[in-house]
Amino acid sequence: MNAKLNRIATVWVAPVLLGAVAAVVGSHYLPESIAEQAKRQAELVPPVYFTAVNVTLPSGSVMFPPGEGSEIANANCVMCHSTGMVLRQPAMTISEWKIEIMKMRGAFGAPLPADQVDALARYLGVVNGKKSESGPSAVDNQAS
Ligand code: HEC
Repeated sequence: MNAKLNRIATVWVAPVLLGAVAAVVGSHYLPESIAEQAKRQAELVPPVYFTAVNVTLPSGSVMFPPGEGSEIANANCVMCHSTGMVLRQPAMTISEWKIEIMKMRGAFGAPLPADQVDALARYLGVVNGKKSESGPSAVDNQAS
């Protein structure tokens, strides 16, 4: 009978006891559970609440002011930026506008046909034009 008990002790009890010790010790080395992480972070970070806001943007004009050549500008100059990007620049002479248009074609790929450059420059010279050809140029020529 004693021999049977001894066998039970060695075969079953000892491994179970070893397993229990390993589980207690090992549990200290387990990664932090997601629930525990959330709890710890909730203590660190105050809650954040989002609310809806209304923003009124200034009105902008999507079309160039009507005039001879405005259709060229409307067709080629507003797919990348607003009309304001063009109209709120310092006034330029027609030849300076030509350089600016060539920059838009060459550097940025504006799809304007070459034979419309002059007509567009004349139009921009009217809506945002500078009379004198003298003085420093307002454009940096990056056309080529
Ligand atoms: C393919 C896109 C694209 C098209 C089309 C385009 N532009 Fe631009 N334009 C730009 C970019 C990008 C800038 C900003 C460049 C910079 O910051 O140097 C710009 C800036 C400008 C400026 C501000 C001055 C400058 O050189 O930065 C003017 C004026 C201008 N564009 C005029 C025009 C005109 C006129 C047309 C029509 C022929 C036109 N753009 C078409 C991309 C475009």
